[in-house]
Amino acid sequence: MAKDVIIALDFDSKEKTLAFLDLFTEEKPFVKIGMELYYAEGPEIVRAIKARGHKIFLDLKLHDIPNTVKKSMAVLSGLDVDMTNLHASGTKAMMEAALEGLTRPDGTRPMLIAVTQLTSTSQERMTNDLLIEKPLDEVVLHYAKCAAESGLAGVVCSPLEAGKVHEVCGNDFVTVTPGVRFAGGEVGDQVRVTTPEKARELGSDYIVVGRPITAAEDPVAAYRRCVKEFLG
Ligand code: C5P
Repeated sequence: MAKDVIIALDFDSKEKTLAFLDLFTEEKPFVKIGMELYYAEGPEIVRAIKARGHKIFLDLKLHDIPNTVKKSMAVLSGLDVDMTNLHASGTKAMMEAALEGLTRPDGTRPMLIAVTQLTSTSQERMTNDLLIEKPLDEVVLHYAKCAAESGLAGVVCSPLEAGKVHEVCGNDFVTVTPGVRFAGGEVGDQVRVTTPEKARELGSDYIVVGRPITAAEDPVAAYRRCVKEFLG
């Protein structure tokens, strides 16, 4: 199974993003484009980064009725991204429709992964606001199982959940994990963090790393350190 480090391009403009990518003269990192950059620059930013030879995880977390998600995924698949995602809480019907929309006429498609419960959702918020009374970890695993049964390739989760997800959904079901920090580094607003090395030990397939690389004095060196620690 492919393992890789994905850099979260959490910038608000094309200029800042391309200036950051210009620092990488030797390698072409796998990158994540999220809502901020996509809403600021539109699909053109995806084409521009793809044209530079990067693999792209388009992190737009779709959640709507199945027909709308299916048609939107068909548009995204035309952007030739490598990975994209949706909310598993949209139900299996939505996930199956998404997969259909994403599949190109030749049968290929970007990897489709699901968000289970956002890491910002605590047990208390889930119980009180969403009226879901089961334990949070059980809900996360159930959503992962639904995603696997719908034919999705994997889930976004904490590295701390990666082992359990693999146990329930199999080792080929990929875990894409944010919340990664270097030992002794700034934690920022992340609460439960692990190092790249620990994420590997816990079974993460892809780690998503933002500020430890984008805000580093030497982002290329930070990226290389991350790859070295994660891939061993
Ligand atoms: O800067 P940092 O390494 O915290 O960035 C992590 C990236 O992963 C951000 O783009 C953030 O939105 C995303 N993410 C996350 N936690 C989730 C899902 C996505 O941190 N549960």
